[in-house]
Amino acid sequence: MVDGGGHRLDVARLAERFDDVFGAGTTCRAFHSPGRVNLIGDHIDYSGGWVLPMAIDRGTTVLVRPNGESVMRGMSLDRPAEGVVETSIDNTRYRPELGWFAYVTGVFQMLAEAGHRPLSGLDLLIAGNIPDGAGLSSSASLELAVAVAANEIGALGLTGAELALLAQRAENDYIGVACGIMDQLAVALGRRGHAMLMDCQQVSVEYVAFPHERASVIIANSNKRRSLNESAYNDRRRAVELAGSQLRPLLAGRRLIDLDHAELDEVHEILADDEVFARVRHTVTEQRRVITAAAALQEDDLMLFGALMRASHESLRDDFEVTGPELDSLVGAAWRQPGTIGARMTGAGFGGCAVILATPGQEQDVIDGTAAGYRADTGIDADFFLVGSDDGAREVAR
Ligand code: GLA
Repeated sequence: MVDGGGHRLDVARLAERFDDVFGAGTTCRAFHSPGRVNLIGDHIDYSGGWVLPMAIDRGTTVLVRPNGESVMRGMSLDRPAEGVVETSIDNTRYRPELGWFAYVTGVFQMLAEAGHRPLSGLDLLIAGNIPDGAGLSSSASLELAVAVAANEIGALGLTGAELALLAQRAENDYIGVACGIMDQLAVALGRRGHAMLMDCQQVSVEYVAFPHERASVIIANSNKRRSLNESAYNDRRRAVELAGSQLRPLLAGRRLIDLDHAELDEVHEILADDEVFARVRHTVTEQRRVITAAAALQEDDLMLFGALMRASHESLRDDFEVTGPELDSLVGAAWRQPGTIGARMTGAGFGGCAVILATPGQEQDVIDGTAAGYRADTGIDADFFLVGSDDGAREVAR
């Protein structure tokens, strides 16, 4: 299935639904937060590396109105069967029965821990068009839409980077996913027309113009659900951290990502375990690829950019081992299409989505060829959609 770009959620219609669900009242405010695709640089944000994501024009819209009571109420139009969920504003502590609402209450809990208690409860209506569990940061998108809403409504004056860090803390300490900062920061600080060269150590972003007129961005969903294989994700993180401590004398105050390619032989000698060494090799080489890729984008060298995407996928497949047969087949099929500039898995891996850059005008051929190759290999139908870039989380209408 293919659908085009420009996926605006209709705020006026959502406002009607809001009144249906929560009753008519004062006008609600609306906030929108994008999802993200990572163009290159996976599994190095938590090592403090540089990554190159882009906020996309699919996201999450949240309509909000203070309810004058001391309850937070939420309804997700994507989960209508669950109806309205609620919790007291004095008790936003994590409980499994909160389900999806934990991504909302987690933000309020972190705000409360930072001394920002809401003056009133809120009613929240949520609608999104990011496929769930596909590695396009639907949870970060929801968290940031809520965080920006709380920041604006409470006039808290927090910056986008501060809100991103707060949302990351909600993931790490509340939801229990040991993610890095890439998703939350990309979603908070996206800019239309740009990719973001992100320094995950400094939590800062340099914008790099993205040549949309020369490269169409296609997302290919393998439809192999990425059960954010949390334990595998956390294992990778632990392996990299373990290597960092074993290499401390060699690093002499540097980080793994600062290692030079020429030092890898020495690293291999120190690290007894071949698998741990491979994780380090990915970390070091991926960092290099991101820097080179950002320069290639600035110099309009899309051929080089595409080659680096391929090398990145191969490293994630062979050294980091986070791709899996479905993503390898999907990306392999994309590589075989003449209109493909580059393709790789995107995000955490273990299923989920791939990103394909295609020559404008040849998108349909790339999609058809990739879909056929993937189906022949796996028997699975992938979904494809074109995305544009978008701005970060923001208020969209009152
Ligand atoms: C997930 C995490 C990110 C990052 C990617 C892999 O999306 O949330 O922090 O580690 O995986 O690059």
